[in-house]
Amino acid sequence: MSAAETGPRVIVALDYPDATSALNFVSEVDPSLCRLKVGKELFTRSGPDLVRRLVADGFDLFLDLKFHDIPRTVARACAVAAEMGVWMMNVHVLGGRRMLEAAAESLARMGDERPRLIGVTILTSLERGDLEELGLHGEPAEFVLRYADLAADCGLDGVVCSPREVAELRPRRGDDFLLVTPGVRPAGAALGDQRRVMTPGEAIAAGSSYLVVGRPVTEAEDPLAALKAINREIRVLTDEV
Ligand code: C5P
Repeated sequence: MSAAETGPRVIVALDYPDATSALNFVSEVDPSLCRLKVGKELFTRSGPDLVRRLVADGFDLFLDLKFHDIPRTVARACAVAAEMGVWMMNVHVLGGRRMLEAAAESLARMGDERPRLIGVTILTSLERGDLEELGLHGEPAEFVLRYADLAADCGLDGVVCSPREVAELRPRRGDDFLLVTPGVRPAGAALGDQRRVMTPGEAIAAGSSYLVVGRPVTEAEDPLAALKAINREIRVLTDEV
C-alpha cells in the first residue's frame, strides 16, 4: 500500500435505510477508528446533505455510487462528488478506457488533495455463467486481473476486489495500488450473503489496503466493541491503527 496512506484500515459500510439510523451509529465512533462508506441506498434517501455532514465531522468518506455512463457524464459526476469533499469514489471499469481516463482527469485537476478513484472490476455477484450470457467468455478472476490492469493504465488508484483476489493482484500491481476489499468476516461472525470471505487479519496479511465491513460491525450488539476488536486484530499487521 502506498506510503502516503495512513489512518484506519476499516471502512464501515453505512448500509442503513435512513440518515437517522446511520447517524446513530456514527455518533458512537470517531474518525480515528474507521472511515465510512455511503452507498446507493443511503445516498438515494439522504443525499449530499448527509455526505457533507459526515465529511464535516472529520470522517474520510467513500462514496460508493459505482458510476458507469458516457465519459463526460461520469467525469462531471466525479467532479461534483469531489466538491463534496469525499475521500474515495468509484466507477465501473466496464465503462471503458475513455470513461476511466475522463474520470481520472477530472479529479487530477484537484491536485494532491483529490479523492482516490477506485475501479469496480467484476461484481462478486456475477459467476462464470452470468459472464457467458453477457458474451464475456472466461473465469471472473481472469477479468478481474485484466480490468485491474486497465484501471491502473487509465490512472485509477486501485480496485475493489474480493480478499481472495488480493494475493494475485498485490504483486502484479505493486504496493501503491489500492485494493479495497469487502467480504471480510471476523472469525465466528455470521456470513450473511457473503460467500468467499476472509478474516480481517487474513485480508490485511494478504495485502488488502482497506477492508469494507458492514454487518459484522453495524449489526453487532455493541458496534463500537466489534470495530475495536477488528482494529486490534489488524493492528499487529499495520503501523497505522
Ligand atoms: O455487511 P457486509 O460486510 O457484507 O457489507 C459489505 C459492503 O461491501 C456492502 O456495502 C456491499 O454493498 C459492499 N460490497 C460487497 N461486495 C462487492 C462490492 C461491494 O459486499 N463486491
